[in-house]
Amino acid sequence: MSLLFVNACMRPNSRTLRLARMWLEGYDGAVEEVDVAHANLAPLDPDRLATYSSAVSSATYDDPLFDYAKQFAQADEVLIACPFWNFSVPAKLHDYLELVCSQGVTFDVDAAGSYVSLCRAQRLTFVCTAGGLIGDEANDHAFGYVRTLAQVFWHIPHVDKIVVEALDAPGAHVERLLQEALAIG
Ligand SMILES: Cc1cc2nc3c(=O)[nH]c(=O)nc-3n(C[C@H](O)[C@H](O)[C@H](O)COP(=O)(O)O)c2cc1C
Repeated sequence: MSLLFVNACMRPNSRTLRLARMWLEGYDGAVEEVDVAHANLAPLDPDRLATYSSAVSSATYDDPLFDYAKQFAQADEVLIACPFWNFSVPAKLHDYLELVCSQGVTFDVDAAGSYVSLCRAQRLTFVCTAGGLIGDEANDHAFGYVRTLAQVFWHIPHVDKIVVEALDAPGAHVERLLQEALAIG
């Protein structure tokens, strides 16, 4: 059993990372980690998109651009941790997920236009902390985005979240809030 930990925490003293590490203490199995903050990631700009598109149309995925997608497809379980930024996820996590969403590697499209998963994972957990309140689900472009990819592209049946809000509120009991979230999650 192998778990892929997508660590998209951006600060050295990240509370989200502390929460993710506490969650991992309860995980019994091999863990492979991707350090998104320090990874050499970039969006699919015109040059990279040309490489990506020609590889996808010829179904030849030897370019290193597809390494993250190949690794993701092989994981039995996935943990993604990131801070809540501007009602969404940090741009580097978006860059990473853009590459993971490689047609022919983590998902495909059948003749009827339906998505077919090429991933092994049966469970994905999303760990996130926010400075304020996330509020309405319609404004949550962090978990909402990850959940859509997980369910629609990768057909992951168990998608859970552990989210702690209001950590930047004056007088917030950060440690207590983190512990409580883990106890509930
Ligand atoms: C660039 C940036 C954008 C942020 N955007 C939001 C936001 O939209 N909503 C919110 O509640 N907090 C926001 N915050 C606060 C963080 O979500 C909060 O401090 C979080 O706990 C940081 O996690 P960390 O300790 O793991 O870095 C933002 C912080 C930064 C640096």
